Amino acid sequence: MNSLLARLQPYPFERLRQLFADVAPNPAYRPISLGIGEPRHPTPGFLKDRLCEAIQSPDGGLATYPATGGTPELKQACATWMERRYGLKLDPAAQILPVNGSREALFALAQVVVDPRAFAQGTEPVVVCPNPFYQIYEGAAYLAGAQPWFAPSDPARNFATDWASVPEDVWRRTQLLYTCSPGNPTGAVMPLQEWKMLFELSDKYGFVIASDECYSEIYFRDEPPLGGLEAAVKLGRTDFRNLIALTSLSKRSNVPGLRSGFVAGDAKLIKPFLLYRTYHGSAMSTTVQTASAAAWLDEAHVVDNRAQYRAKFAEVTPLLSQVMNVALPDAGFYLWAEVPKRFGGMENGSDTDFARELLAQYNVTVLPGSYLAREARGFNPGAQRVRMALVAETAECVEAARRIVEFIQTSK
Ligand SMILES: Cc1ncc(COP(=O)(O)O)c(C=O)c1O
Repeated sequence: MNSLLARLQPYPFERLRQLFADVAPNPAYRPISLGIGEPRHPTPGFLKDRLCEAIQSPDGGLATYPATGGTPELKQACATWMERRYGLKLDPAAQILPVNGSREALFALAQVVVDPRAFAQGTEPVVVCPNPFYQIYEGAAYLAGAQPWFAPSDPARNFATDWASVPEDVWRRTQLLYTCSPGNPTGAVMPLQEWKMLFELSDKYGFVIASDECYSEIYFRDEPPLGGLEAAVKLGRTDFRNLIALTSLSKRSNVPGLRSGFVAGDAKLIKPFLLYRTYHGSAMSTTVQTASAAAWLDEAHVVDNRAQYRAKFAEVTPLLSQVMNVALPDAGFYLWAEVPKRFGGMENGSDTDFARELLAQYNVTVLPGSYLAREARGFNPGAQRVRMALVAETAECVEAARRIVEFIQTSK
């Protein structure tokens, strides 16, 4: 067996199952889950139609092996979207690669970028990750033979990742850095200044930046979130050196089951990534490619989807902010709320006690923030927070919020 597998941690939802194993939810309430970050708005009808048509097509259906590099139509559709959304002119052949959702690409990219033999024996390369973070980054680092290094998010600076806390000797061993903007779970969008700092560090130490941008279309401010490639061009880095952005249709178009996204950026990284993927066997089905092209070319359903999230957050956030420290995020579909101090009998609130008591008394599931972060240098930056995914329809989210308000107001 590959001994690196032993380094993988259980997924947050498995830990939640264990946490709740002996909790009896109050049967007076029907269950509401804000625990899982999976889109639940309906998939647009035109996408389902396009998928069905594509299956019937004699040359684009299931009877042929798909191309790992993607069909020219899909790559062009991705490039068209990048231009419309970010004003970028990309070469679809050299700078874009379709992937089966951003998750697998986030993982696979580490296999391409990390060289576990780069240093003297016993010295492992480093993958820098935000903390809290999307757990795939950590597993990708371990299985590529690297050590993750967790840079904490700073609640005093809109949860910006404290990249400046990474020591010089860690930067010298860093080969890959994951960043997530809009962030899961914080919803924070990285401003241009932060990108500038990361680019300078990447130039100095030679690491690759993987920019996870899968929440980019669900936002609450007037300005759409700045993309990594967009930031690069604004700073004169038109070759996108050492930068790959990853995005997907899952949240944008409510198709997490389609498994469709793409990566874009440095042609010098896309080429070996394609080579790797040819061996890995991760070509996207041609039918999925056809439907995906239609999804990237349509914006009306995305505008509608965003409006639904905006309406939902506008109702839920003020309710919850009466009883807990929580604010409308920049983007994404999560609230990253601070647990009131009285929970858990500690000076600061305990996220796990809060989640257990809320389930027992009001049958609402939230995810303890500590499960989305790691303890590093003496503290877990998620420990006093819970993540609430507002993915259900508005009425259900509002009802959950009302129950949480009552729970906090009536708990001693
Ligand atoms: C931060 C982040 N990145 C990537 C993904 C993966 O999404 P997908 O593989 O559906 O594109 C998720 C899914 O929840 C996520 O939260």
